Formats: sequence, structure tokens, C-alpha cells
Amino acid sequence: MTFDLSKIIRPKIYNLEPYRCARDDFKEGILLDANENPHGPTMKVDEEHSGLNRYPDPHQIEFKTKITSLRNAQSDYKDENLESLTAENVCLGVGSDESIDALIRSCCQPGRDKILIMPPTYGMYSVCTEINDVETVKVPLIVEDNSFQMNLPAVLEALRNDPSIKLVFITSPGNPVGSLVNPKSIEELTSQWPSGIVVVDEAYIDFATSGGSMSPLVNKHPNLAVLQTLSKSFGLAGIRLGMTFASKPLARVLNAMKAPYNISSLASQIALKAMEPENIEIMKMTVDDVSQQRIRVLNELTSLKQTADTQIGGLDANFIMIRILGADGKPCNKTAKALYHKLASESKIVVRFRGTEYGCEGCLRITIGTSEENDFLIKEFAATLANLQK
Ligand SMILES: Cc1ncc(COP(=O)(O)O)c(C=O)c1O
Repeated sequence: MTFDLSKIIRPKIYNLEPYRCARDDFKEGILLDANENPHGPTMKVDEEHSGLNRYPDPHQIEFKTKITSLRNAQSDYKDENLESLTAENVCLGVGSDESIDALIRSCCQPGRDKILIMPPTYGMYSVCTEINDVETVKVPLIVEDNSFQMNLPAVLEALRNDPSIKLVFITSPGNPVGSLVNPKSIEELTSQWPSGIVVVDEAYIDFATSGGSMSPLVNKHPNLAVLQTLSKSFGLAGIRLGMTFASKPLARVLNAMKAPYNISSLASQIALKAMEPENIEIMKMTVDDVSQQRIRVLNELTSLKQTADTQIGGLDANFIMIRILGADGKPCNKTAKALYHKLASESKIVVRFRGTEYGCEGCLRITIGTSEENDFLIKEFAATLANLQK
């Protein structure tokens, strides 16, 4: 069996003609086509914002061209037969959260179809399935050996047993565990399962030390989609810009389905600035800084008696997971929760309690801050934990 996109996408969506505006054909002149306000913004704005009375560009080709050039240049996949990414391989979303929702809506018939996720994982996949009346099948990552890798035989078995599964979501690097999932096993999954789409969520990919993005492979595997975001390594969570890299036919469907003006002019101006070569260099320097700080925070926090040797997951993201032990030396949610509350209320340091996630008993997820923030965290963490253990 080979992959047939028309069998995966819901028929009404597969046949959608994208919304067209007059400006797809004519961009200049006296613009009386879109019921905008010709007087301009009604508040005083800087010159660069004087065009905000106009709808934004629905296609964003310039940004898409720049982000694909970046990912092509960084690619680990040097096969000369592999077609490079172009703007036609991309659909943009209001954060990758919108891109997740779009994939689910495009493939899953409410009340009938399912997605497969691998706990512990990012919470929004389940939120989106609830909203869309889509069921979730769970095949946990391998947690016993601390690898947090995909259990490929178990995933393939679940997919064989349930033809209503349309999408598989793999978070790589994982959240909350920070481990890159072996790209070879992801490719193996795409080859062995042509009856749905494998979605690799790479929100943290620029922080990964053990491998790069799989986005260049979407032209090799038509049933692979890769999600990325400007919210993490680029430091632009506030502009809400996410991307789906996909085969051209899948990207076409996703673009036909999205609201035409989902990316605001402000978001697009800032996103384009982020793609300038000197700003890409700053992104890389920030990532290097986070990597160095990550090791320092990890070494300091895991050297404490109550957390000894208890880092879990990998170091491929801008956070670490630490397991907190109770007085009996075993992972302890009660102590972890108390530590979380005290850090937030007394030290004003907010981390994330993840102890109820699969395989994460007693765990706190800690984002790597600036050097000064980390100094304070290390000090307060040690003192608060020691007090709790008294
Ligand atoms: C794995 C993962 N995917 C997607 C997102 C959402 O990112 P965005 O800000 O682009 O919506 C997050 C945010 O924390 C995340 O951790």
C-alpha cells in the first residue's frame, strides 16, 4: 500500500478551494476592494506601522523562503536526490498550537477518527482532540531506561489494530523530557505506516545537541509533517508564529484551510527581522548560552542529596527535568509539589510540577533562565529543599 493523501484528508477539506481576495491579482492603486479604513489607524503610530489599516499578506512567501533556506542550510540530510525545501512546503500558524489543531481538523472526522500520542508528551494534542471530538490512543515512550524513545513495535501494533488512527504525534525533542527521538525510527514508522501522517513536533529542535531537524525529509516522505515555532530558540513567543513543513500537496491543503489573514502584519514584520543573518547569529549564541547554563544548573541541582542522580530524559531542549526524592530516597510527588509551591510563593521562582505525567513521578521541569536567574534558582532550590527535608 502506498500513501494516498486524498484518503487521509477529510474529503470536504481535500477539495477546498482557498479563499481568494482581489489583492491576489492586484496589489497596487486605490484599494477599495477589502472594506478597510482608508484613513489609516485611528491612533498615532510610528511610520513603520502606518499600513496597519490594510489586511496582512495571506501567503507570507518571503518569510517562508527565508525559514526554508535556513533549514536547508542546516540540514543533516545530504542526499543529492532529496528536493530542497521551498516556500511551497510551508503553512504558517498562530503559534504551532494552531498548526497542531489544523492537522487534527484536516485529517480527523469528529466522533470517528483518532490520533496516537506517546506520553509523557505535550498537553495540547489532547486539548485539541477534546475540542474536535477526536479520540486519543496512547502508546507510552520507553521510560524504564530513561531513554524516552518511541516504542516502535508497540506503536506499529496499535496502528495495525486501529485503522481509525489518522495522525501520530511525536514530540522531538520531547516535552517534558527533553530527549530527541531517534530520527531513524521515525523514518521507519513513516515507511511502515502509509495510512496516516506522522507529525514530528520540533518546538525545541534548535536546542538539540544530538541531532538536527527532520524538516528536509518532508519531500522524501509524503506522510511526514514537521512542526516548528519561533516561540523558543528565536525568543518570540509573543508574536505567535508556528510552521508546518510538509509535502507540497499537504501544505497546499493546510494553506487552503487556514483563515486567510491568520498571521498579523506585526508578527510578519518581526518574523522577517528574526531571519536576518545577524539575528540568526544571535539566536545561535543564545542557544549556546542556554546549553552551557543547562549543564551548570543540572550539575548543581542533581548534586543535592535529595535529587542525587535524578535527572530524567535528555538535554536536547531549553529545560531539564529533575526528580525529587522523599525522605525514604524514592521519587516523591508530595515533596516535589511542596518544593514547587514554596519556590513560587516564597522565592518567586516559578517552575513546573510534572509529577503526574507518565513515568515522571516526583518531577519538576525547570526552564533554563539567564545566568543571574539560574544563580538565584540554584541557591533557593537547595535551601528550600533542605528545609522541606528537615
Ligand atoms: C512541544 C511543544 N509544541 C508546541 C508548543 C506550542 O508552541 P507555540 O508557542 O508555537 O504555540 C509548545 C509550547 O510550549 C511545546 O512545548
